[in-house]
Amino acid sequence: MSYPVAAVRFESRVPLRELNSFGLPAVARTLVRVAGEADVRRVVDHPEHGRAEKFILGGGSNVVLTHDVPAVVVKVEVMGRRIVAEEADAWIVEAGAGENWHDFVAWTLDQGCPGLENLALIPGTVGAAPVQNIGAYGLELKDRFDSLVGVDLVTGRTVTLDAPMCRFGYRDSVFKHELAGKTVITRVRLRLPRPWQPVLGYLELERKATETGIARPDARTVFDWICAIRRQKLPDPKSIGNAGSFFKNPVVSAEQCRDIIGRDPEIVHYPLPDGSVKLAAGWLIDACGWKGKSVGRAGVYEKQALVLVNRGGASGAEVVTLARAIQESVYGRFGIRLEPEPVIL
Ligand code: EPU
Repeated sequence: MSYPVAAVRFESRVPLRELNSFGLPAVARTLVRVAGEADVRRVVDHPEHGRAEKFILGGGSNVVLTHDVPAVVVKVEVMGRRIVAEEADAWIVEAGAGENWHDFVAWTLDQGCPGLENLALIPGTVGAAPVQNIGAYGLELKDRFDSLVGVDLVTGRTVTLDAPMCRFGYRDSVFKHELAGKTVITRVRLRLPRPWQPVLGYLELERKATETGIARPDARTVFDWICAIRRQKLPDPKSIGNAGSFFKNPVVSAEQCRDIIGRDPEIVHYPLPDGSVKLAAGWLIDACGWKGKSVGRAGVYEKQALVLVNRGGASGAEVVTLARAIQESVYGRFGIRLEPEPVIL
């Protein structure tokens, strides 16, 4: 059988420390960089690596690497940004999965297509955004999602998925479950509603509006506010390794919440439309005294207890040990099991 000259290069024993935002040491036995759908097909068709298990890596901002990776690491480097259409009621914009998310948000504003400003400064790539349905300050990716293009790692076929097919949930999607390691997202298309309306419900944004005296900010102003708020309490992965929020905010029944309030009246909680209640995981962890604490070289960020950080040279195992200790003390005091947000490998 003749085999086409492969345009993709499989690299051996690639250190991943620089490729994950936690800065954890791990080595990929095999790593391949893909710049488009055709490259992914070449990986699928490869006689040796085609059938091997795959681990898809974007910006590495939502993974905890606890060991070397035996699976073939597919590093997504699909680039390009464009305005697809200007419809009467929306701008349709698209970006390659390898583009940096924040740079893409800033680019859409420069193009006069607002609507993503509340998601400014979220680390990671465009392709990773749908995987965990990124969200911040009252907006989630799913609220602006149109569709995405990916390549099936078994058949090599290019597929298009709409929102229902992605099964978006709170920091969740089909790509964390059935399609994990099975479909490589290559391009993401977003739908930004016209006319633009700011999303200002969040307390911290209302505070900015009061402080500045700007009651009706434009999109650029909201972008600047979000950047300032995030810089104040979230560490920049370039200087301190981290993966954003380490735990999801747990949801409990109204009854369970009443019981906890009885014992801890201060608890920060948000009632949800279905009668259940979301609790602030950061508050629970803080209440257990974890802020600023360390286990080995892994620690809890001083300004936000929901963020675990690498204090320098930490291993993935140290991060997981710290996470378990936090889960145990939160369970011991509140009876609530915290669920990690990043993918732990
Ligand atoms: N809190 C404390 N102590 C702490 C941290 C928080 O008491 O150490 C309290 C705060 O005072 C506040 C409440 O907990 O009343 C909630 O904290 P915050 O507003 O900072 O938001 P969050 O629930 O910690 C979530 C997302 C963030 C997102 C922000 C803003 C999750 C797991 N995290 O954080 O997302 O940026 O809201 O919308 O849903 C991420 O996913 O990586 C991420 C950073």
